[in-house]
Amino acid sequence: MDKFDLTVLGGGPGGYVAAIRAAQLGMKVALVEKKLPLGGTCLNVGCIPSKVLLESSDLYHKAGNEFSKHGIAVTGASMSIEQLMARKNKVVKELTDGIMILMKKGNIKVINGFGRIKSKGLVEVTGEGGIETVETDKILIAVGSEPVELPFLPFDGDKVVNSTDALSFGKVPSSMIVIGAGAIGLELGSVWSRLGSKVTFVEILPRVAPFADSQASKMLERALIAQGLQFKLETKVVSGEKTAGGVVLAIQDKNGAESKIEAEKVLVAVGRKPATKKQGFEEVGIKLDEKGRIKVGDNFQTALSSVYAIGDCIEGPMLAHKASEEGVACVEKIAGLSAHVNYAAIPNVVYTEPELAQVGISDEEAKAKGIAVKSGKSYFKGNGRAKSLMAEDGFVKVVADAETDKLLGLHIVGPRASEMIHEGALCMEFEGTAEDIGIMCHAHPTLSETLKEAALAVHKKAIHG
Ligand code: NAI
Repeated sequence: MDKFDLTVLGGGPGGYVAAIRAAQLGMKVALVEKKLPLGGTCLNVGCIPSKVLLESSDLYHKAGNEFSKHGIAVTGASMSIEQLMARKNKVVKELTDGIMILMKKGNIKVINGFGRIKSKGLVEVTGEGGIETVETDKILIAVGSEPVELPFLPFDGDKVVNSTDALSFGKVPSSMIVIGAGAIGLELGSVWSRLGSKVTFVEILPRVAPFADSQASKMLERALIAQGLQFKLETKVVSGEKTAGGVVLAIQDKNGAESKIEAEKVLVAVGRKPATKKQGFEEVGIKLDEKGRIKVGDNFQTALSSVYAIGDCIEGPMLAHKASEEGVACVEKIAGLSAHVNYAAIPNVVYTEPELAQVGISDEEAKAKGIAVKSGKSYFKGNGRAKSLMAEDGFVKVVADAETDKLLGLHIVGPRASEMIHEGALCMEFEGTAEDIGIMCHAHPTLSETLKEAALAVHKKAIHG
């Protein structure tokens, strides 16, 4: 039996990226994954398939609602769900096949089965072919997360669904209730609404995308309402009952008034939880916190020596790119290199239309933390490129330290926000200032000019503001 330097549990963007980096650093690596293809939630049932559905549904929606404004006459546009799903599956397959090629290139042994840590140097893998024992010097846990279920409304894969199910409906539901207006709810709610479903959100908090800057969140809500989405904010679901035609939910608003709403399907998108149950971690001395996350120290080391953990199963935002960064940093530290993850500069994107993207803190968060900030804002409606794209909804807000001008946050709601946000992330990485962005020459005409204007607005120097 081979002995490995590192055995990674979980082949998502945390685990597979860590495995590749470890192999680059000369380690002999095994990657254990219970459910092939590799790629985890992100590639198989998360970030990637949802982006395919968002892109196709956006084009379909525009064909019916916007093409005519460009002078393009479209009659009888229709969407083949079969073809939509086939394209989604093709994209996923190409990417997951690509990971397999990378595994071969890195000489990483992929073991298909459920891995259980027996002791600090031993992993037992139960697969279709039986049990395999893997001897290893170090272990990296990257087991990810799973959808949270509402106790009174268990998932059934048909009427009460989770994000995985909502990526594969065979037909457009006539109506859908989405519980939770976070990233998953907003993205998948948008997809099915654009394809013709009547979508209603029930969100317990007073705003959509509650983690976002409140003005950005309000702007996004307005844009989504204009697209036909409905929101019941500050409303909680009290109970649910399945009927012949769907599901009836009893809901309660902030004043305590109860009412009932009904839909063909209910998507429960109230968050994800670390997939640390039934893994036997605590039995071998790995400690979990009150939310079931694996407790780790500075080097991602768990309470069991030579066992490390990264990604959704530890503290921090549940984001694929955060997991990948941690995976790389963790194995580099194991290899004796200096590495770190800059948690202050992790971008967060919701791929709605308009997109919502942020990095760093908002002015409200700064206030709550007692940090004096200045902020500047600029709207896309004054931007030539946004006008030509017919995508004028939204703005950019730059938040800078009041004393040093250091960039502390960037908030964008608008077209291609997911790409523009990295200008802010880069500036923060290099500890740059709002002035740095403001004095940098931005190509004209680009959406990014709105970012320059917002940065200039911090010092009341915006030209078009
Ligand atoms: P989330 O935490 O982003 O949003 C959940 C929402 O549900 C919140 O707005 C919360 O207030 C609401 N909620 C919770 N309990 C509720 C209840 N009983 N009734 C009504 N509303 C309730 O979680 P989500 O959207 O499920 O996503 C899970 C994770 O996956 C997040 O960490 C998210 O960042 C990540 N993700 C990231 C994406 C991206 O980067 N584009 C896309 C999809 C998911």
